[in-house]
Amino acid sequence: MICKDFLSMADLTADEIAALLADAARLKKNRRPSETLAGKSLGMIFQKPSTRTAVSFAVAMYELGGMALTLSEQQLQLKRGETLADTARTLSRYLSGIMIRAHRHDDVEVLARYADVPVINGLTDREHPCQVLADLLTVMEGFHLKNVAGLKKLSIAYVGDGNNMAQSWLLASALLGLELTVASPKGYAPAVGVQRQAAALSARSGGRIRCVVDPLDAVAGAHVVYTDVWTSMGQESEAVQRRKIFRPYQVNDALLKRADRRAIVLHCLPAHRDEEITAGVLEGPQSMVFQQAENRLHVQKAVLTKFLACRPG
Ligand code: CP
Ligand code: NVA
Repeated sequence: MICKDFLSMADLTADEIAALLADAARLKKNRRPSETLAGKSLGMIFQKPSTRTAVSFAVAMYELGGMALTLSEQQLQLKRGETLADTARTLSRYLSGIMIRAHRHDDVEVLARYADVPVINGLTDREHPCQVLADLLTVMEGFHLKNVAGLKKLSIAYVGDGNNMAQSWLLASALLGLELTVASPKGYAPAVGVQRQAAALSARSGGRIRCVVDPLDAVAGAHVVYTDVWTSMGQESEAVQRRKIFRPYQVNDALLKRADRRAIVLHCLPAHRDEEITAGVLEGPQSMVFQQAENRLHVQKAVLTKFLACRPG
């Protein structure tokens, strides 16, 4: 069996995404402990804090009969200068897979190059693909869709910083042939390389993806309104400036009124109330954010089952 990494949404095909979401939905419907990953172990390296990713991966491993080890950077020799390559080769001798949350996507690619076991991206500066799988499942639930094909009928608006969340959404939409508009301030759009990659994938899938500046343009008639923090982890020194620049991108009642009346609101969390989203909208009837957070668990189980299957023990 071939070991595969999951570093980017684009590591999956549309069919693989559909299968993962179907598996996640099935696992959610029938949540009970199993022995699917008995004897398997997952190392979880964290260079940044986490609530949802850390806990959902750990509980997913437990409920699948395996075990997860939390490895904060502070406790690893990485902190004292051991290379990622040596860390990857050592950990591969013990573990069945590695999940990593890292500052730099390039570092995760190095880790994956040297690891003999699958490496899963638990968020980098470039992407957060596991989150977007959970988001897609939530949208399907929100609109009672039986399969991913139904997503093609929806218009999705992403409002805010064009970084990791927006970039994984662009690639997912491009792979699945969805309609997505990302609205970000000038200078904060998704990376040109990711936009190009998404455009190329979208040309094949029939997707309709756009990156714009005007949040009203993105949200007009949208069925899904998505936002994320204005200041991501590691960018804290830019927080004051970002609060000014992103002000017109707040998801509030006025913006939401422009969306389809059945629109759902998503946020990957953690949220900063009354910054990128008002408390009223976050807690309001259109918000599905905690169902979305729960779905991390079910999706993680599907992801782990698929990717950790490649190595015995
Ligand atoms: N959405 C998400 O990844 O949350 P955490 O940072 O808590 O893991
Ligand atoms: N863009 C955010 C996502 C958190 C889940 C960050 O990188 O901090």
